[in-house]
Amino acid sequence: MKNNEKNKQIKKFVVDNSNQILTTNDGVVIYDNNNTLKLGKRGPSLQQDHIFFDKMAHFDRERIPERVVHARGSGAHGILEIHEDISEFTHAKFLQKGISTPLFTRFSTVAGFKGSTDLARDVRGFSVKFYTEDGNFDLVGNNIPVFFIQDAMNFPDLVHAVKPEPDKEIPQAASAHDTFWDFISLMPESAHMAMWLMSDRAIPRSFRMMEGFGVHTFKLINRKGDITFVKFHWKPKLGVHSVAWNEAQKISGFNTDFHRQDLWENIEKGNFPQWDLGIQLIPEKDEMKYSFD
Ligand code: HEM
Repeated sequence: MKNNEKNKQIKKFVVDNSNQILTTNDGVVIYDNNNTLKLGKRGPSLQQDHIFFDKMAHFDRERIPERVVHARGSGAHGILEIHEDISEFTHAKFLQKGISTPLFTRFSTVAGFKGSTDLARDVRGFSVKFYTEDGNFDLVGNNIPVFFIQDAMNFPDLVHAVKPEPDKEIPQAASAHDTFWDFISLMPESAHMAMWLMSDRAIPRSFRMMEGFGVHTFKLINRKGDITFVKFHWKPKLGVHSVAWNEAQKISGFNTDFHRQDLWENIEKGNFPQWDLGIQLIPEKDEMKYSFD
């Protein structure tokens, strides 16, 4: 391609702002945002330079505090397609056969800070936001079907225990450490989840190879008002795969962004990850038939 033509093509992407004027964030026209107002040529900076203070005030506040849990996450857009008729259980429009609904999904670790490694030994979040015709529906999940606690009152204690220990702020993004074992030892109901957490389930090979579980029991309601209890399960088409612990440690050393890079690169290549959304159902009348709640 000739240089001229190349230049023309590049110009399409260049924004011409030669006619635009520089303003403060409130729209006051200014001609300079690089020099503080000074007293004379070499004089001290002046307190009345409100443009300087405006710039600093924005700078001081440009960091949003990171989330206390699930701070590190990576997401992608997708669609939900319903292939089976489940109208006998639900009349939710987006769950009817033939309906496609756009969605956004976010995979996360729980304990690590925003910049921590993807290959931490941890539960993975699997949250999905469906943009349905009737409004947004959020289905929050994890890659493990059970949970640490029964009562949400214990959640801050659980999270404080798994986070870096407060005296030295170590270890980062790790679950097998003293304060966490202390919590588990005092909370027998955590034993089941602890088994999952210390298994290879907690070091997945890829976000594309993870199951997702809604964990909570939800209700489906049909047109007649009949209730069916439901658990939601995401099953990856690629199967469930993990790495070994020594691999997880090596990968963390080489590339802390291993999972997010794997997700985004595969999407760019057209290897779109897919899941089946499964439902596990119990009719309301059978609610008390089980030996435990
Ligand atoms: C039982 C008590 C629980 C409490 C009190 C709790 C609390 C929280 C809080 C405070 C956040 C952060 C929200 C934010 O800062 O935006 C969060 C995020 C999250 N939780 Fe829980 N949680 C609980 C159980 C669960 C369970 C059982 C699951 C799995 C089904 C789960 C999955 C998630 C996920 C995936 C996120 C991140 C959402 C996203 O990607 O945007 N949590 N949780």
